[in-house]
Amino acid sequence: MKNIKIAVDGFSSCGKSTLAKQLAAHFGFVFIDSGAMYRAVTLFAIENNIISEDDVVDINKLKKEIKNIKITFQTIDGKNHTFLNGKDVETEIRQIRVSKRVSIIATLDFVREEMVNLQRNLSEENSVIMDGRDIGTVVFPNAELKLFVTATPEVRAQRRYDELKAKGEDVNFDEIKANLINRDRIDSTREIAPLKQADDAVVLDNSNMTREQQFDFAVKLIEKILA
Ligand code: DC
Repeated sequence: MKNIKIAVDGFSSCGKSTLAKQLAAHFGFVFIDSGAMYRAVTLFAIENNIISEDDVVDINKLKKEIKNIKITFQTIDGKNHTFLNGKDVETEIRQIRVSKRVSIIATLDFVREEMVNLQRNLSEENSVIMDGRDIGTVVFPNAELKLFVTATPEVRAQRRYDELKAKGEDVNFDEIKANLINRDRIDSTREIAPLKQADDAVVLDNSNMTREQQFDFAVKLIEKILA
């Protein structure tokens, strides 16, 4: 069977990675969370005083350091964990201090170049399902299937709120909603590789769908490709 690429793009917190993980497990594909990479770079920038409290980025310092940022993935107890220079940062990269700043880091051309190279390298020898913002438009323009996932901001904020709350984080619904609307704005309007639906993408609005329903919808599309 030839290796296939599946791109799952869309707005923040619309269940892209949940869907991509389920599909990867079902079909035996490798799952790659491209957002985790931008999050890891952001965490590195926070920890090394490259991004200030008021979101000013020391571009020269980050340019110098970017080659020293090693991002890897490992599956631990069936879950995908992101490592930054050998340290498991899976929990830290999901914290609001990272979420608040990641879109700013993701606008930088030299950061995107490194991440896209890494995304393509990790995908060379496998069938891959990757979630992100520019996977169908930039990373894999020839992907066999491109899904563009969306849901209303209220539904998305509620899901992220429930997720963080379940992890015991002290979170505020309005802050989460404001953060994701702001991220969508920055992600959609940036100059390089903005979030946008690829012309040949299939739109999946899951505002009123259960996880099972969206999974079934995507499974049917992939089965067609594999047939
Ligand atoms: O999917 P996520 O919320 O973990 O992504 C975090 C941020 O990273 C998101 O606000 C935009 C950026 N991102 C990107 O620019 N390109 C990608 N392929 C994936 C994420």
